[in-house]
Amino acid sequence: MAFKELVFSGVQPTGNLHLGNYLGAIKRFVELQDRYDCIYCVVDLHAITVWQDPAELPRAIREVTAAFIACGIDPRKHIVFNQSQVAEHAELAWIFNCVARLGWLNRMTQFKEKAGKDRENASVGLYAYPTLMASDILVYRATHVPVGEDQKQHLELSRDIAQKFNNDFAASIRAHGFGDTFFPLPEPLITGEATRVMSLRDGAKKMSKSDSSDQSRINLTDDADAIALKIRRAKTDPHPLPSEEKGLEGRPEADNLVGIYAALAGTSRASVLAQYGNAQFSTFKTALVDLAVSKLGPIGAEMKRLVADPLSIDAVLADGAGRAQKVAHETMKAVKDIVGFVRA
Ligand code: AMP
Ligand code: TRP
Repeated sequence: MAFKELVFSGVQPTGNLHLGNYLGAIKRFVELQDRYDCIYCVVDLHAITVWQDPAELPRAIREVTAAFIACGIDPRKHIVFNQSQVAEHAELAWIFNCVARLGWLNRMTQFKEKAGKDRENASVGLYAYPTLMASDILVYRATHVPVGEDQKQHLELSRDIAQKFNNDFAASIRAHGFGDTFFPLPEPLITGEATRVMSLRDGAKKMSKSDSSDQSRINLTDDADAIALKIRRAKTDPHPLPSEEKGLEGRPEADNLVGIYAALAGTSRASVLAQYGNAQFSTFKTALVDLAVSKLGPIGAEMKRLVADPLSIDAVLADGAGRAQKVAHETMKAVKDIVGFVRA
């Protein structure tokens, strides 16, 4: 069966949004709006898989919403909302908990990283996180999912869940007139020059919201001075830039900065190196500061303007949730019939 093309993605309202979130995810969300119908979700149910201060969480939810809008997502043409306002996400996640196998979840590397050594003390939600993620996507029967590289394994699990549901319930799916398959197998969209932006302090570590060093990341709300300082202090090696891409091999910090430049400029590593090959880092960093400030400065300023008016943000979320819920509700009615529940 051919499914209507639909994009879904989510960002957690935890900590500071950074350049990795922007280049790996949100910038791509913006680009996809012209070609697809899109649903972009602030995944607050995912956020609480690790402790979130209830006095801080509303601010974080509104800030991610503001970032979506400031980066250029149009919440009137598309759908922007927060996950907890559409109860069907959690409802379908329960059914997927009964479809997914323990063995599948045991392989998830993100759980292992986040739970760390004290695994016994991790929340059950942190473990079941990927089944909720599958439900986010599949409750809209979305077909395309733009994410950074770190979400690849979770997307594969979503496909496995969709496939197993389709197989397990094949007869019922057919009997209820839904054709041969009910859920699409969602495709990850992991493309561009910055699918994995690394820490500015350590080229072997991902740029992350939870890194204790603020110098490791450029936050979307950093001002021009902060951006300049962080880039000038970014770790490098003593050699000039290579003039070809293969010269970046084994030079993770150089590769990261060139990748950031390419993604911000909307070009490729090869063309950045055609311009800056043989340049010293001091020269290249000056150019990167100018580029980063020109691209990120206006976003940060617009985010600050938007979060100053929380009521408008809440109105966007409520409107988006209403529209999302209509779609999710239809899916759940069908899923209940397929599974064999009795409903009104
Ligand atoms: P999260 O902050 O974990 O909710 O991530 C939101 C989106 O940003 C997801 O699509 C991630 O894959 C993406 N992302 C997070 N960190 C990075 C990074 N360092 N580089 C590229 N993409 C990232
Ligand atoms: N797990 C994703 C992350 O940490 C966020 C997320 C939740 C998501 N649900 C999703 C991404 C559905 C894409 C589709 O970045």
